[in-house]
Amino acid sequence: MNLPVDLIKSQTLPALFLDVDALNRNLNAIANRSQGKTIRLATKSIRSLPLLKHIMKSSQTYQGVMSYSVEEANWLYAEGIDDILVAYPSTDRHELHKLTRHMKTGANITVMVDDDEHLSFLQAIAHDEQSQFCICIDVDMSTNFNGFHFGVRRSPLRTTEKVVQFAKRIQNYPNLKLIGIMGYEAQLAGVTDYSDQSIKDFAIKRLKKASVKQVHSKRQQVVKALRKEGIKLSFINGGGTGSLMTTAQDPSVTELTVGSVFISQHYLITIHPFNTTPLFTLHCRSYENLQVRFIRV
Ligand SMILES: Cc1ncc(COP(=O)(O)O)c(C=O)c1O
Repeated sequence: MNLPVDLIKSQTLPALFLDVDALNRNLNAIANRSQGKTIRLATKSIRSLPLLKHIMKSSQTYQGVMSYSVEEANWLYAEGIDDILVAYPSTDRHELHKLTRHMKTGANITVMVDDDEHLSFLQAIAHDEQSQFCICIDVDMSTNFNGFHFGVRRSPLRTTEKVVQFAKRIQNYPNLKLIGIMGYEAQLAGVTDYSDQSIKDFAIKRLKKASVKQVHSKRQQVVKALRKEGIKLSFINGGGTGSLMTTAQDPSVTELTVGSVFISQHYLITIHPFNTTPLFTLHCRSYENLQVRFIRV
């Protein structure tokens, strides 16, 4: 591979160099594996606004982003990105106020909840601003094998019953509108089973295989129970790069999330036969001043 040294020399740092042909091949391959579901891009893994925009333009499959903070969501919205799901519950009062103002101008931004106290907090802000919050419930997708916990304890909402009761309580808040469910199976998506330790890999693969069934069944039960209560949802989000293939097979899921698939060597090996997309990143800490060049080598 010939690196265009002169091109690199002339760039302002920080800079991210991408092999655009490899990226585009990977974009098509991932879109083809989504089995008709749309894909939301995890911004915590793709730290480049031009890259996010490039991916979203490449195919109708790539719809919206999953943001890691309300501050980032407000910034992305100001930069022209709509359809944002903030994946982690936030109590950033200042940024939440700002978000409600975007909501009044028609923004499509959804915030995550998993706790009653948080609902009252969000309701007070939305009421103050005479606006509303679109809400997504974070459902814990950990698996329990006879007392052995396999998962990350993301949310206190671990059973269908708890999720349904919580969803019903959201309806008591006039300025909160429940529109989605997220069930992220971190133990499948984020735990590698390709290391140099074959016994450990074998055990993790077995655990994952058993966990997939439970995860799908739980997510389906939750969605069914909410529908039975007359609760209408616009989306059911699931998965991450490492679970792309299995999450896509869950009929209850309407959209998948991926991010690191396009830039992480680890995933590109496990989702054979991918090529790594970036050539390299130079001093990349934050993406607000990151220059990106899409190059052919
Ligand atoms: C809620 C959620 N969904 C999906 C992902 C997957 O992201 P990636 O595909 O970049 O691993 C993550 C990663 O932490 C996450 O927190």
